[in-house]
Amino acid sequence: MKLADATLFMMLPATGIAASCGIPYPSSQIDGTLLYSVVVDIGTDAANVTASQYDKYFEQGSAVQGVDAVVAASQFYVNLFAVPGTEAAFQNNSECLTDGYLVNEVSWLYYDTTTASYYGGWLPVTEADTYEQAAQYVVSSMVPGLEVRFWDTNGDGYTDLIDADFKAGVTVETVTENANGTYTVYRGNIDVANKTAEEGNTFDGTLFEITGGQPIPAANFDTTITSGDVALFWYSPSGLNMARAEPITGIFIDGADHTYYNIDGVVYEDAERFSRDNLLISNRPGEFTDAQKYFQLTNDTAAGLDVTLWLVPVTNTTNTGAPIGMTGDDNSHAFLTKAVATAQALLANVTVSADGSDVPSTQEWVTQDVYTQLDDAIARANAALDSATSSSFLLDYQLYILYQELNGSSDDIGAAFAGFNYTGFVSEVQYGTA
Ligand SMILES: *[C@@H]1O[C@H](CO)[C@@H](O)[C@H](O)[C@H]1NC(C)=O
Ligand SMILES: *[C@@H]1O[C@H](CO)[C@@H](O)[C@H](O)[C@H]1NC(C)=O
Ligand SMILES: *[C@@H]1O[C@H](CO)[C@@H](O)[C@H](O)[C@H]1NC(C)=O
Ligand SMILES: *[C@@H]1O[C@H](CO)[C@@H](O)[C@H](O)[C@H]1NC(C)=O
Ligand SMILES: *[C@@H]1O[C@H](CO)[C@@H](O)[C@H](O)[C@H]1NC(C)=O
Ligand SMILES: *[C@@H]1O[C@H](CO)[C@@H](O)[C@H](O)[C@H]1NC(C)=O
Ligand SMILES: *[C@@H]1O[C@H](CO)[C@@H](O)[C@H](O)[C@H]1NC(C)=O
Ligand SMILES: *[C@@H]1O[C@H](CO)[C@@H](O)[C@H](O)[C@H]1NC(C)=O
Ligand SMILES: *[C@@H]1O[C@H](CO)[C@@H](O)[C@H](O)[C@H]1NC(C)=O
Repeated sequence: MKLADATLFMMLPATGIAASCGIPYPSSQIDGTLLYSVVVDIGTDAANVTASQYDKYFEQGSAVQGVDAVVAASQFYVNLFAVPGTEAAFQNNSECLTDGYLVNEVSWLYYDTTTASYYGGWLPVTEADTYEQAAQYVVSSMVPGLEVRFWDTNGDGYTDLIDADFKAGVTVETVTENANGTYTVYRGNIDVANKTAEEGNTFDGTLFEITGGQPIPAANFDTTITSGDVALFWYSPSGLNMARAEPITGIFIDGADHTYYNIDGVVYEDAERFSRDNLLISNRPGEFTDAQKYFQLTNDTAAGLDVTLWLVPVTNTTNTGAPIGMTGDDNSHAFLTKAVATAQALLANVTVSADGSDVPSTQEWVTQDVYTQLDDAIARANAALDSATSSSFLLDYQLYILYQELNGSSDDIGAAFAGFNYTGFVSEVQYGTA
C-alpha cells in the first residue's frame, strides 16, 4: 500500500533543525482548554477542519472564517510549528524564503521566487493566487487518521488556537539507549542477504535504516516501545519524537487494502495519505491483509491466532486514529508454517516439463525455472522458521514473499508500486498435452 510520497522524510536531518520558518510554540503542550479533537476523515469527522460541522467551535459561527482567523493570527500549529500567519511574516523570514514552511522537513508551503508565486498544501502541489490561499491549502489538507485539536486559550469558549499532528509510522526491530541518554531505533534490514530479483523495495523511506541513526532525546522517547512494535515518529521544536502506536490484538476477521480492517468484529477504517514509508512493506495493513487473505488465515476463530493492528493513539476515546501497521507477533511462526504447507502442496502437485508435451492432460506442469523459484522460496521460508533468531517481522515478510511468489505482484497495488515483479506460480501452472 502506498499512501504517501516516498521522498517524505528523506531529508529529516540527523542532528535537528537549527532554525525554521514556522514559529515554535513556547511549550511542549498547548496551554488552554481543549474544545474538540478532530480525527481527520475518520468516523464522524470531516476530511477538512473547515467543514460546517465545526462551525459551532468558532466565534464567527463559521469554521471557514474561524480557521482563517486562527491562521492569520499565526495560531495554527503543525507539530507545534506555527504556519506563518501573513505574507509579511513569511517574506520577513529568510528560512521561509529559503525552504518554505517545513514540517518533518517536508515543505507544506513555499514561495517560488522565479514565478513569484505561492504553493501550499500537503506536499505543496497547489499553486495559490495569494499567500492566504496557500496557507488555507496547508490547513485544509491535514493527513487522514491524524488529530487536529481546537483550543480555547482566552476562556471565551471558542477556538483561538489549533494544533495538528503530522506523524508517520515505523516498525521497530531494536531500541538502543545511548550512553548520553538519547535513544536510537533500528527498523531492521529484513533478509537482504537472500533477496531475489523479483523483490522490490522493502521500505519506501530511509529513516531508522542504520543502527545508531537519528538520536531521539530521552524526554521525547516513549520507553514502552520494544522490539516488534510499531511506533509513530515526528519532528517538533524539541527534536525528533517517538511514541508507541496503540495495539489492537485479536482475531483478524476480514479486511481490504485502502478500506478497512476488522479485528474481533470491530471495524477500523483505513486512512489514505498516512505515511508508512518506514514500515516494512509486509507489515503495512493492506499488504499484511492481502497475504493473510491469500492463505485463508483470516476469520479462523478455531485456530485462535491473534494478530495486532496498530493504530494512531487519539485523545478522545470515542474515536480511533489511522491504522499504521499489522503484525503477526508470536503467531507469525504459526501463520508462516500454514503458508509453507499450502505452497508445498501446490509445488508437490506439479511435474516439471519443458513444454508439457510429455505430460498427460490430467496432470499439471511448470517449467524447471518456475518450479525452482517456488522451491527456493519455500526453502527460504523454512530456514526462517528454523532459525531461533528470526524476528516476527522476518516471518511476516516470508509469508508475504510466499504470497507474492504464488499469486504474483501485478494485482497488488503496494507490491507493484514497490517494484515487486513476481509472475505468480499459480498463473504458470498448465495441464499437459500428451
Ligand atoms: C469526544 O467525542 C464525543 C463523541 O463524538 C464528542 O461529543 C466530544 O465533543 C468529543 N470531545 C473532544 C474533546 O473532542
Ligand atoms: C520582521 O522582522 C523584524 C526583525 O526580526 C521584526 O522586528 C518585525 O516585527 C518583522 N515584521 C513582520 C511583519 O513580521
Ligand atoms: C476544505 O473546505 C473548504 C470549505 O468547505 C473548501 O473550499 C476546500 O476546497 C476544502 N479543501 C480541501 C483540501 O478539501
Ligand atoms: C548521543 O549519542 C548518539 C549515539 O552515539 C549520537 O548519535 C548523538 O549525536 C549523541 N548526542 C549528543 C547530543 O551528544
Ligand atoms: C523483474 O524480475 C526479473 C527477474 O525475474 C529481473 O531480472 C528484472 O530486473 C525485474 N524487473 C524489474 C522492472 O524490476
Ligand atoms: C491473487 O491474484 C488474483 C488474480 O491475479 C487476484 O484477483 C487476487 O486479488 C489476488 N489475491 C490477493 C490476495 O491479492
Ligand atoms: C467469519 O466466520 C463466521 C463463522 O465462523 C461467519 O458467520 C462470518 O460470516 C465470517 N465472517 C467473514 C467476514 O467472513
Ligand atoms: C492438483 O493437480 C490436479 C491435476 O493434476 C488438479 O486437478 C488439482 O486441482 C490440483 N490441485 C491443486 C490444489 O492445485
Ligand atoms: C538467508 O541468508 C542468511 C544470511 O546470509 C543465511 O544464513 C541463510 O541460510 C539464508 N537462507 C536461505 C534460505 O538461503
